[in-house]
This record gives sequence, C-alpha cells and structure tokens, in this order.
Amino acid sequence: MMKIIFIASGITLLAGSFLLVSNAAATDDYDVKAFGPKSPIVWTKPAKTSFEHRPHTDVAGLECKACHGEIFAMQRGVAQKTGKFTMASLADGMFCGACHDGKRAFASDTKCAACHKIPDDPIVWTKPVKAVVFFHETHGEKSDLKCVSCHDGTFPMQVGVAEKSSNFTMKSIYEGRYCGACHDGDTAFAANTRCNTCHIGRKGYDRLMGRDPYAEKDGH
Ligand code: HEC
Ligand code: HEC
Ligand code: HEC
Ligand code: HEC
Ligand code: HEC
Ligand code: HEC
Repeated sequence: MMKIIFIASGITLLAGSFLLVSNAAATDDYDVKAFGPKSPIVWTKPAKTSFEHRPHTDVAGLECKACHGEIFAMQRGVAQKTGKFTMASLADGMFCGACHDGKRAFASDTKCAACHKIPDDPIVWTKPVKAVVFFHETHGEKSDLKCVSCHDGTFPMQVGVAEKSSNFTMKSIYEGRYCGACHDGDTAFAANTRCNTCHIGRKGYDRLMGRDPYAEKDGH
C-alpha cells in the first residue's frame, strides 16, 4: 500500500490509488499508465536479457521520461537494432549503464543474474543425442563471478545456441571446448568418464521433469 501511495505523484494517479488500496496485494491491479507495460521486455541477441518496468517505475519511483527521452525508445527492439546494445556500451554509460553504474543503481558488472535470469528448468539438449543435462545450480548459480567462467566465450547466454553448432560433440569436448573447458579431470570430472552424469537419457529426463511432485510428497 505504501508503495502505491509513494509513487503516485500525479493527482489523478493518487485518486486512482485509493481504489487500489483495498486490495493492493492482488496482482491484477496492474496500472499500465503508471507502471509501464506489464510483460517483461526480453532481448535474445546475443544474450538473453530481461527488463521489467514495475521495479523501475512503481518501486524505484522513476518517471517514464527518465528513460524515454534520450536513453530508450518507447518500442521494444529498438535498442537491439542499434547494434550497440552490449555490455561494453553499458560500461561506457549507455542504455542501462546510464544508471547501472554502481551509483544510481547497482553496477552492470555485478549481479549478472538480475538482468540475465537463469532459467527455472535445467537446460537439456536433445541433439545429436537425447538427453544431456546441465544445471546452473551445481555450477555456481549463487556466485556472480562465475558467470564469466562460461559466458565469456565458452557458451552464449541463450539456450539452444550451442546445439545449433555442428561441433557441439564429444570430439570438441575432449579437445577442451564447451563442457570440456572444465570437464578434463582437473577442474571437474573428465568427460570420458561418468557418461551417465551428463547423459541422463530419456528415462532420466522424464524423472527429472516430474521431480517436483515427488519432492513435495516426501516433504522436502
Ligand atoms: C528504467 C527505464 C525505463 C523507464 C523508467 C520506463 N521505461 Fe518503458 N521501456 C524501457 C525499455 C528498456 C524499453 C524497451 C526499449 C527497446 O527494446 O529498445 C521500454 C519500452 C516501453 C514501451 C514499448 C513496449 C512494447 O511492447 O513495444 C512502452 C509502451 C513503454 N516502455 C512505456 C513506459 C511508460 C508508460 C513508462 C512510465 C510509466 C515507462 N515506459 C518507463 C525502459 C523504461
Ligand atoms: C543492468 C543489467 C545487466 C547486468 C547487471 C548485466 N548485464 Fe549483460 N547484458 C545486458 C544487456 C541489456 C545486454 C545487451 C542485450 C542482449 O544481448 O540481450 C547484455 C549483454 C550481455 C552479453 C552479450 C555479449 C556482450 O558483451 O554484450 C553477455 C555475454 C553478458 N551480457 C554477460 C553479463 C555478465 C557476465 C554479467 C555480470 C558480470 C552481466 N552481463 C550483467 C544487461 C545486463
Ligand atoms: C534511469 C535509470 C535506470 C535505467 C536506464 C535502468 N535502470 Fe534498472 N534500476 C534503476 C534503479 C534506480 C533501480 C533500483 C535500485 C537498484 O536496484 O540498484 C533499478 C533496478 C533494476 C533491477 C532490479 C529490479 C528488482 O526487481 O529489484 C534490474 C534487474 C534492472 N534494474 C535492470 C535494468 C536493465 C536490464 C536496464 C536496461 C534495459 C535498466 N535496468 C535500466 C535505474 C535504472
Ligand atoms: C559452467 C558453465 C556456466 C556457468 C558458470 C553459467 N552458465 Fe549460464 N548457461 C550455460 C549454458 C551451457 C547455457 C546454455 C547455452 C546453450 O544452450 O547454447 C547457459 C544459458 C544461460 C542463459 C540463457 C537462458 C535462456 O533462457 O535462454 C542465461 C540467462 C544464463 N545462462 C545466465 C547465467 C548467469 C547469470 C550465470 C552466473 C550466475 C551463469 N549463467 C553461469 C552455462 C553456464
Ligand atoms: C560433461 C558432460 C558429458 C559427459 C561426461 C559425456 N558427454 Fe557425451 N555429450 C555431451 C554433450 C554436451 C553432447 C552434445 C549435446 C547432445 O548431443 O545432446 C554430447 C554428445 C554425445 C554424443 C553424440 C555424438 C558425438 O559424438 O558427440 C555421444 C555418442 C556421446 N555424447 C557419448 C558419450 C559417452 C559414451 C560418454 C562417456 C564416455 C559421454 N558422452 C560423456 C556431454 C557429455
Ligand atoms: C567453467 C567450468 C565448467 C564448465 C564449462 C562445465 N562444467 Fe560441469 N561442472 C564443473 C564443476 C566444477 C563441477 C563440480 C565438480 C565435479 O563434479 O567434478 C561440475 C559438475 C557437473 C555435473 C555434476 C553435477 C550435476 O549438476 O549433476 C554435471 C552433470 C555437469 N557438470 C555437466 C556439465 C555439462 C553438460 C557441461 C557443458 C554443457 C558442463 N558441465 C560445463 C565445471 C564446469
């Protein structure tokens, strides 16, 4: 409730907000004019990045023109088409980096997962063989620093890209590419051992996707 009153600086909005107060917790009270579009803006090239309006407008109290003047067009996709929408530009103070500089808002070279949301489900590849599994959790989801150990060339931050490449194979892995950058028996178990740890197969995949109901039944 406090939040709604706090951000509603316009008189019209304030009047509207009293109507919302009674059931402010309900998620359908989304005020597009005050908060901006509800559906997240998602960019997919080259990384998967998402942006939500509400934390910026409703929560942080920014006005539309804080961004929709010189920084962003009011149309999704425009920033990406400039060809300059990259981490390097952000570091130079462009786009999100105009604020995400460690002063107005958390810096762009921290909290990677805030802008690049890790998928809820494990990543599963089905080509050329079904099914190879990868969990962000076991690869240090919690540590910001670790994102670059894979997302600085080894893998793009977008599911399905590696799979499209014809060299996403055991041969490449044995030669130290992709998973083989670490699964060499030194940093992590070697890729020519424990095949089933990565290759969970069709049955393992079904079990994996159905694991939640079982976990609930067992009480953990
Ligand atoms: C913190 C920055 C920021 C603020 C503040 C902001 N926006 Fe946006 N908005 C964006 C970005 C980023 C995009 C996508 C631009 C792109 O992809 O090039 C966008 C896109 C939009 C779009 C286009 C959506 C679509 O589907 O094409 C609309 C409409 C919009 N904003 C309205 C608003 C309104 C209304 C407000 C104020 C209530 C607001 N925005 C405040 C950053 C912001
Ligand atoms: C404030 C938001 C934000 C944060 C924090 C952030 N990024 Fe990004 N990142 C973006 C945007 C926006 C793009 C450009 C659009 C796209 O590629 O989807 C991008 C693009 C990228 C790309 C594509 C290639 C490139 O260089 O642009 C990589 C890789 C990347 N980010 C990695 C990271 C890593 C690693 C971190 C943490 C150290 C991080 N990002 C933190 C917003 C962010
Ligand atoms: C006009 C300034 C401004 C711009 C531009 C901006 N942000 Fe933010 N952002 C903020 C402020 C202020 C906060 C709240 C303070 C904080 O979290 O450090 C915030 C918070 C966030 C959060 C945390 C939201 C939460 O749920 O807590 C994310 C994620 C984020 N911004 C992503 C982005 C991305 C991606 C872009 C570019 C597409 C962007 N921001 C552009 C000012 C801005
Ligand atoms: C050990 C390697 C590794 C580490 C560390 C890692 N990732 Fe990933 N990530 C991957 C792989 C592999 C993919 C899928 C790439 C593909 O399919 O081509 C991926 C995909 C992604 C995607 C795309 C999701 C989608 O829905 O398309 C995001 C976002 C992402 N990672 C964010 C992060 C963030 C944030 C961190 C750090 C907290 C991180 N990753 C750490 C290996 C890693
Ligand atoms: C560190 C994880 C990992 C381990 C361990 C691993 N693989 Fe793979 N394997 C992959 C990935 C990733 C692919 C490519 C994606 C796909 O095919 O779904 C792949 C692909 C394959 C393929 C498809 C064709 C080819 O040549 O690439 C075969 C066959 C294969 N692995 C057999 C094995 C065998 C046998 C072992 C054990 C000696 C093994 N793998 C161990 C990750 C692993
Ligand atoms: C940046 C280094 C790095 C890369 C790249 C990497 N891994 Fe790992 N992986 C590790 C480490 C470290 C562990 C934990 C130590 C161990 O088990 O040897 C691990 C553990 C695992 C495990 C066992 C734990 C679990 O999640 O069930 C699997 C499976 C796995 N990795 C699959 C993969 C696959 C598939 C790829 C390629 C898509 C990959 N890894 C790429 C470092 C890496």
